Amino acid sequence: MPLTPPATAIRVENVCHRFGSNTVLNNLSLTVPQGTIIALLGPSGCGKSTLLKLLAGLLHPDAGQVFFGTQKVVDGRFSLPPEKRDLGMVFQDYALWPHMTVAQNVAFPLQMRGIARPLRQQRVLAALDRVGLADFEQRRPYELSGGQQQRVALARAIVAEPQILLFDEPLSNLDRDLRETLCTEMAVLLRQLGTTAVYVTHDQQEAEALAHAIARMKQGVIERIDYLQKPAVSPFVA
Ligand SMILES: Nc1ncnc2c1ncn2[C@@H]1O[C@H](COP(=O)(O)OP(=O)(O)OP(=O)(O)O)[C@@H](O)[C@H]1O
Ligand SMILES: [Mg+2]
Repeated sequence: MPLTPPATAIRVENVCHRFGSNTVLNNLSLTVPQGTIIALLGPSGCGKSTLLKLLAGLLHPDAGQVFFGTQKVVDGRFSLPPEKRDLGMVFQDYALWPHMTVAQNVAFPLQMRGIARPLRQQRVLAALDRVGLADFEQRRPYELSGGQQQRVALARAIVAEPQILLFDEPLSNLDRDLRETLCTEMAVLLRQLGTTAVYVTHDQQEAEALAHAIARMKQGVIERIDYLQKPAVSPFVA
């Protein structure tokens, strides 16, 4: 009996992006099957964050198309707004709202989706529990360590159970020991969730610990993809 290949979660087709005369993404294509964690590795300035922002809807490319599943999210002038893309994002600098409590920060994506308060509270507590921060819900970000703040950002990214998770060097502000601990915990969590993820990092070891495949980027293109575990269907550069 033929195996049914997993659906494609992300398809980037021939995307170009320039800042002035600087061509940052140069006809880049990438396909990521559902449930795959793909690490984006490459030298500073090669376009990793630009590609991630484009997936998040924070930037619009000069040319090319992007699909999430069968839904077109970028084409020509059309761009699906970030809040409609069903994704969660974790940045290097945590990006928590300082005036809000931990619980309010984590609840925000649920509020945006119109989830009623009782269910919201339940899901916030469950997400905080998953990242090891049960009992921290009434604290403010300034009352937390860097590692704890990044756990809050992670809880906020997963709380609405989005289809896609995007990470831009989430561990690079943390010291080495903490980076290793959080990296291991995130690897377990991401596998439990089974969510498709694009994970930007400079760190080969981090990529190997977390990802199913490593896409090596250079000067705006993906040069090569290394598979760390054999996924049912390989991500590929079209
Ligand atoms: N808003 C912007 N305006 C002009 N140029 C930009 C802008 N954002 C990024 N760039 C340029 O685009 C190129 C790619 O930047 P990008 O942030 O995608 O690199 P990166 O691979 O994420 O690098 P790093 O590993 O240092 O984070 C760089 O040359 C950068 O200077
Ligand atoms: Mg970057």
